[in-house]
Amino acid sequence: EVLAVIAVALIIWYGGGRVLDDTLSLGALVAFTAYIRMFFRPLRDLAEKYNILQNAMASAERIFLVLDNRTMLPQPAAPASVAGIESLRFERVDFAYVPGEPVLKSVSFELRRGETLAVVGPTGAGKTSLINLIPRLYDPTGGAVKINGRDLRTLASPAFRDTMALVMQDPLLFSGSIRRNIFEGAPAADSDRAQAIIAAANLERLVARLPRGLDSELGEGGSLVSSGERQLIAIARAFARNPQLILFDEATSAIDSQTEQLVQQALARLMQQRTALVVAHRLSTVRHADRILVMNRGRIIESGSHPELMALKGFYYRLHQLQPAEGPGP
Ligand SMILES: Nc1ncnc2c1ncn2[C@@H]1O[C@H](COP(=O)(O)OP(=O)(O)O)[C@@H](O)[C@H]1O
Ligand SMILES: [Mg+2]
Repeated sequence: EVLAVIAVALIIWYGGGRVLDDTLSLGALVAFTAYIRMFFRPLRDLAEKYNILQNAMASAERIFLVLDNRTMLPQPAAPASVAGIESLRFERVDFAYVPGEPVLKSVSFELRRGETLAVVGPTGAGKTSLINLIPRLYDPTGGAVKINGRDLRTLASPAFRDTMALVMQDPLLFSGSIRRNIFEGAPAADSDRAQAIIAAANLERLVARLPRGLDSELGEGGSLVSSGERQLIAIARAFARNPQLILFDEATSAIDSQTEQLVQQALARLMQQRTALVVAHRLSTVRHADRILVMNRGRIIESGSHPELMALKGFYYRLHQLQPAEGPGP
């Protein structure tokens, strides 16, 4: 770039002198500067391409870094199988994403078949992290998570993941039809069963509203439906797989109260006859739990039933004092 400008300046300076001496015509000088510019343009383009290439190389390096990353946690050589979930136990579980910054500290509890356990606590208490340890998305840094008394690290992940369904705070959907989002990877469902699942998950209204019903495309990341509707679809996905253990992370973000009712109702249906661990923000969800764990800063600080914890007049009691009063339930 600089070179081109200097070259043009030199030509004008030298050529200008010649024009004044009458040894060069003005036309030839103008033509010459134009040619020089043409000569430098491809060089500049080449330099630009080189910059793009450099950027692409840097990006490629990062992509390969991600690809090379071992995303699977180490699997046992001779994994034991899991037929059904009789119990889920946390034994003095410590966990940290970043060494030295503990997120869970000595968390212990047990959940037995058929029970519903609620986890409550302020934002950042570690509730979502606790749930993430159950499908073994992460390994604890201390203690153990056990199913039927066996450490998750001795079990085959695909086997126990089939027995549980995780409904995340903000469920991730694939671009693709609603049908695929619900039934992909699940046992094949005939149309009667599909209809029953849609009804149980309170999705009938959404499906009726969309132009192509169940085959409507959801767009990238499920962007065409609201976050409450995404949870309904995630609940339907759970129904389709018919798991024994439900892990539910209630959405904190505001959902309109009508959709919220639909989610609550669908969730209650899903939890019937199943074992469930629910991170709850709403009193109405918590009340139905057999037991409630109250978490703060990575620790379980209180546990018991709703009346027990209210009588304790501790942290749980104060949490409810902060919550806006709920109207009489339906
Ligand atoms: N992927 C992550 N990497 C590092 N830190 C995280 C990650 N996810 C959560 N944390 C941290 O862990 C703590 C607990 O977070 P989380 O389990 O999401 O709490 P809760 O669900 O109770 O709001 C927070 O301090 C949060 O910043
Ligand atoms: Mg959370």
